[in-house]
Amino acid sequence: MKSNASTSLTQILGLDLPLIQGPFGGGLSTVELTATVANNGGLGSFGAHNLEGDGVAQVIASIKSQTDRAFAVNLWVGDHDKGGDDMSLATFERAWKFYEPYFREFGLEQPEPPQHYHPKFESQIDALIEARPHAFSFVFGIPSAAILEKCLKSDILTIGAATTPAEVEALDSAGVDAIVASGFEAGGHRTSFLNRAEDSLMGTAVLVRLASTKTNKPIIAAGGIADAAGIRSALSAGAQAAQLGTAFIACKESGTADIHRDVLFSDRVANTVLTRSYTGRLARGIPNRVIAEFDKRAAELPPFPIHGWFIGKLKAAAMAANIEDFVSLYAGQAAPLLRHSTASDLIAAIRDEL
Ligand SMILES: Cc1cc2nc3c(=O)[nH]c(=O)nc-3n(C[C@H](O)[C@H](O)[C@H](O)COP(=O)(O)O)c2cc1C
Repeated sequence: MKSNASTSLTQILGLDLPLIQGPFGGGLSTVELTATVANNGGLGSFGAHNLEGDGVAQVIASIKSQTDRAFAVNLWVGDHDKGGDDMSLATFERAWKFYEPYFREFGLEQPEPPQHYHPKFESQIDALIEARPHAFSFVFGIPSAAILEKCLKSDILTIGAATTPAEVEALDSAGVDAIVASGFEAGGHRTSFLNRAEDSLMGTAVLVRLASTKTNKPIIAAGGIADAAGIRSALSAGAQAAQLGTAFIACKESGTADIHRDVLFSDRVANTVLTRSYTGRLARGIPNRVIAEFDKRAAELPPFPIHGWFIGKLKAAAMAANIEDFVSLYAGQAAPLLRHSTASDLIAAIRDEL
């Protein structure tokens, strides 16, 4: 496998800054955001886990039409948790009974059972490799050796994500090119794949330090970084770049709903929590009704992605009615530091301060 141990990540990707805009699933990534970040000298990323293969190909073509610079496309390798691939009608009906009162509250009828609750990783990866983004980043596992080999042959840099030193070692021995060290401060999902996410909670600073003792691959610090001071401290801990998520979902180029963005700039960001209530997988966000309603019924929640599929319909109805009840208010612990509402302002401020 290719090793970039001695080369800096920014050089390999032709970046002006050691800055990566984190990928976002669930419609929060946009072509505009990814291209804007790339054109401003960072690595733009697009989270494509909820797209079918043809959607992945279309997005990559659209980004390429807006920038000549490097960008990454992100998929979720583990596309279901235990029981989450059960497509039986009995499971669907049982789940429906759980959500029915909430659907009725929004005037929604019982939906038709879907073909699947989430696209299959296998149906996305070939399209991604064929469309050849500069980098393929992934979470919730490690792609097969055959897939990593195809990326190498297609000149696609592979970026895996670890939440523990053991996951760093696993990614390193699989031969991925760079490793995101994702601390529990981060907004969005805890993407642990060796142990339960609840048993894999490490802070970014210590994870980056320990990762640098486990691998020679470039390390990307993610979680709780929102400005140049945070990037500087990640670099001095041993990272070659920092991946920012929450700071970018606050920017208008992202697909973040206004109702969510307004909360990101409010006092409510002082308190973020880890919850399984958004999708069935552990994620960090700001408390609202989804969490109040479902955390206390956590044992009854259908597994990912079934819970996420039903909640997605309630979320769409809530957004259409302009109420935040079932909107997942993803945010990381550094959200009180947010100052910028466009990606170019955010990057300009980081460039100046660095
Ligand atoms: C709304 C949201 C969605 C995210 N979706 C993904 C995803 O699909 N894939 C991924 O690798 N990371 C995802 N992340 C993680 C970010 O890319 C990034 O690593 C993280 O937000 C960094 O921590 P910060 O939020 O403290 O800046 C998501 C983060 C947020 C806030």
